[in-house]
Amino acid sequence: VTPLLDVVRDSVRAEGPITFARYMELALYHPEHGYYAGGAPRTGWNGHFVTSPELDPAFGALWARAAETVWRACGLPARFEVVEVGPGEGGFAAAFLGAAPAPLRAALAVTLVEPIPALRARQRRRLEGLGDVRWVRDLDAIGRVEHGCIFCNEVLDNQPVHLVERAGGRLREVMVDAAPDGSLRLAPRPPAAFVVEWMGRHRIHPPEGARAEVPVAAERLVGRAARALARGAVVLVDYGTSGERNAAGTLLTYGAGGPGADLLADPGARDITAHVDWRLVSGWLVDAGLRPAGPRPQREVLKALGARDLERALAAESHSARGARVVRALSRRQALAALLDPAGLGGLDVVLGCAGIPPPAFMADQRDGDRP
Ligand SMILES: C[S@@+](CC[C@H](N)C(=O)[O-])C[C@H]1O[C@@H](n2cnc3c(N)ncnc32)[C@H](O)[C@@H]1O
Repeated sequence: VTPLLDVVRDSVRAEGPITFARYMELALYHPEHGYYAGGAPRTGWNGHFVTSPELDPAFGALWARAAETVWRACGLPARFEVVEVGPGEGGFAAAFLGAAPAPLRAALAVTLVEPIPALRARQRRRLEGLGDVRWVRDLDAIGRVEHGCIFCNEVLDNQPVHLVERAGGRLREVMVDAAPDGSLRLAPRPPAAFVVEWMGRHRIHPPEGARAEVPVAAERLVGRAARALARGAVVLVDYGTSGERNAAGTLLTYGAGGPGADLLADPGARDITAHVDWRLVSGWLVDAGLRPAGPRPQREVLKALGARDLERALAAESHSARGARVVRALSRRQALAALLDPAGLGGLDVVLGCAGIPPPAFMADQRDGDRP
């Protein structure tokens, strides 16, 4: 029994069955007992899973090259803002600041969007002395970004979703209820009018027996990021699909022992994710006046940004260095291989929303993109 189970039960007692989106919000972000807000590191070697920026600084360094490209496309403005939403343990910002080339650094203003105090404190410690960084609690507080990049790595798949299914010819919203014995159970109910309207507008029509997710919060997040940006790029990296539908939906949970399909298991002690539907995301970017590029696999984008040069430099170092530096170079080579592995982190997708600039070359499809 997790402390969050009591929170959910209290909520159900007070309001009746709650939407899956409300359940997911409590399970991940309840200020005391939520999976991300509870204080324990979740991403990285001390957490439950390793994300690209926590695996190796190569990720942040390669994205610093991408930011330089965007800065150039904007006409080398004197001030260039890099905003990161959901920085987790701060690995991306640390590597990015460490690797940004001097001319870009001189123009750089970094903002981290972090609502969770425990995470903000760890990020502050990790980034101390690395450059000028400001923190805001909410994306709405970043203000207008005249020139810049707004990054979200593995943030969209953690946005609460409503869950719907079609059974007996009828659309149902899957709610979370408490059983008489106090355990949680899924309970279908007639859907709220705004959920039906949203699904109609986005042409989401699950067939009989199938479930679908309604990512209202992701739409809000993408819209806010896109509308804040006057010129530059919104960069979204996540696990996604391009409209292909799985009858069971894409919701999964992750804990210390790996993935699980029981969405109600150990609330607050497990991550809950839903794949991002890139067709929807592209539509939201267009609605906000941006030009979408991608999805392109992360492995191809990182290669286009120079992952191979880095690989060669690490290979040379592992051959010529001595002692601990050899071990470090060898383990970094393995980390880089994992970032490019189609079955691993290389299988993440990248989508850009371009504001007032053409899609950068690193997002262009190249036939030999997958050539080793
Ligand atoms: C899977 S973690 C990824 C962390 C980090 N980006 C990384 O790649 O290591 C998702 C993070 O997104 C954060 N998050 C989710 N919604 C957010 C929002 N609206 N604003 C800021 N952070 C958010 C969560 O708190 C969590 O730390």
